[in-house]
Amino acid sequence: MDLYEALRTRRSSGAFAPAPAPSREVLERVIEAATWAPNHHRTEPWRFHVLSGDARGALARAIGNALPPDRDTPGERDAIRAKLERSPVVIAVVQHVTGDDAVRTLEDYAACACATQNLLLAAHAEGLAAKWSTGKLARSPGATAYLGLGARDRIVAYVYAGYAAQPGDPRDPQRAPAAIAWHP
Ligand SMILES: Cc1cc2nc3c(=O)[nH]c(=O)nc-3n(C[C@H](O)[C@H](O)[C@H](O)COP(=O)(O)O)c2cc1C
Repeated sequence: MDLYEALRTRRSSGAFAPAPAPSREVLERVIEAATWAPNHHRTEPWRFHVLSGDARGALARAIGNALPPDRDTPGERDAIRAKLERSPVVIAVVQHVTGDDAVRTLEDYAACACATQNLLLAAHAEGLAAKWSTGKLARSPGATAYLGLGARDRIVAYVYAGYAAQPGDPRDPQRAPAAIAWHP
């Protein structure tokens, strides 16, 4: 697939076939592609956690167990579980934070975002559907504990991945024209 075509045709997709799951070989290829992202000082701040099978439910339970009392309801727990189990694979892209340099932390976050986009594009090239998600699940102390992350590590993305439930995606792919200020 031509790069420009891949850039334009990749779309977030949240509807996955429960099986088959992408093979480990495919997942290794898309994660390896992620690591070619630019990163200042070559810090390579990304870490990848691949969850499939029962691990998705276990992560959901860990997040549920860390809910504040006013949000800890059976409905909320079910919603968390449904979210994490909607795709056969969930890849957590984690920024491993080292030191106290605010500039480096920001630049490393940017590098992890680039890595996530690489991963999404590679998944697209492999014929997978995928979606980047963050929200409360990414900020949960239960997720931090389950994944064994450091106190300052940050979940940059949960990438939901699998084969699409149906071929094609009805979502509107349009973008506004780029806002460009030319300074000749
Ligand atoms: C940092 C980041 C966080 C995102 N978090 C969510 C999310 O929590 N839930 C969601 O449905 N989509 C999330 N998305 C996906 C965007 O909603 C999606 O990229 C946007 O609607 C454009 O659609 P496209 O990816 O098909 O071009 C996120 C994307 C980025 C870059």
